[in-house]
Amino acid sequence: GHVVVLAGGLSYEREVSLRSGRRVTDALRSVDVPVELRDADATLLDSLTDDPPDAVFPVLHGSAGEDGSIRDVLELLDVPYVGARPDACRVAWDKPTAKSVVRQAGIATPASVALPKEVFHDLGASSVLDRILDRLGLPLFVKPTRGGSALGASVVREKSDLPAAMVGCFAYGDAALIEQYVEGTEIAVSVIERAGEPFALPAVEIVAPNRIYDYTARYDAGDTEFVTPARLSPEAAQRATDAAVTAHRALGLRDLSRTDLIVDASGEIHFLEVNVAPGMTETSLLPRAVSVAGLDLGTLCRDLILRRLR
Ligand code: DAL
Ligand code: MG
Repeated sequence: GHVVVLAGGLSYEREVSLRSGRRVTDALRSVDVPVELRDADATLLDSLTDDPPDAVFPVLHGSAGEDGSIRDVLELLDVPYVGARPDACRVAWDKPTAKSVVRQAGIATPASVALPKEVFHDLGASSVLDRILDRLGLPLFVKPTRGGSALGASVVREKSDLPAAMVGCFAYGDAALIEQYVEGTEIAVSVIERAGEPFALPAVEIVAPNRIYDYTARYDAGDTEFVTPARLSPEAAQRATDAAVTAHRALGLRDLSRTDLIVDASGEIHFLEVNVAPGMTETSLLPRAVSVAGLDLGTLCRDLILRRLR
């Protein structure tokens, strides 16, 4: 038998996904798992049918990869796969929905307004923005309700920057999430299930150039400084760990996830979002946490696959 690592696809995060896929493929090979790296293209269905793998490790970021649809297809083909099931992906992928689930589980998340592009235009863009500014104040963070890798995302510090932020956001998605921007330390906490129990890896602190962790800062090696474990008080570190595990559980995720959080000056944790297909590139956060924890990425990935085969 063999394992298929599924990467690429046609989302905006295709290139990132291919880098993640190569990293996971190399890691699995290093622990002697027979693995094939495959692009999610038009030949995929035939090849999964003609030569069914023992399991698929999806490393597809963005739309089909994270909204549950590719996993629906794997369910349809009865191919075991690593990671969250389609229904859970759909909830996690839609940031406003994920925020509300996680808030109900007791974790703070920045106040926000979600606005589809049509509504924004139908109601008159500038009057809508005035109401949002009255409600949320400044600074704000604007991003697509569904998306990743900070594409279409920007910080708004001045009222006059908001229209451009909306245009940039709608270039990557048909709805915007406009959030209060919480000042603080940006961290990412990866969760891996071991023997069925979610367990949090050390928090990775992100110190991006100009404090904006954008696409370039994410994927150009050396642009961003990472501090692992994050410089937090023991209490705040514990709260961050608990928040990530709570989010993983509340959203019904499986195997692995990465939760992005802000820790404010008083040590309170604010949930930003969760990723069901976290980046696995050379500069990504989950692999960094794995290595700082003294674990081996290939071994962890192999263990996740083995659990699906039982
Ligand atoms: N969306 C990117 C791949 C991440 O969350 O790491
Ligand atoms: Mg994300």
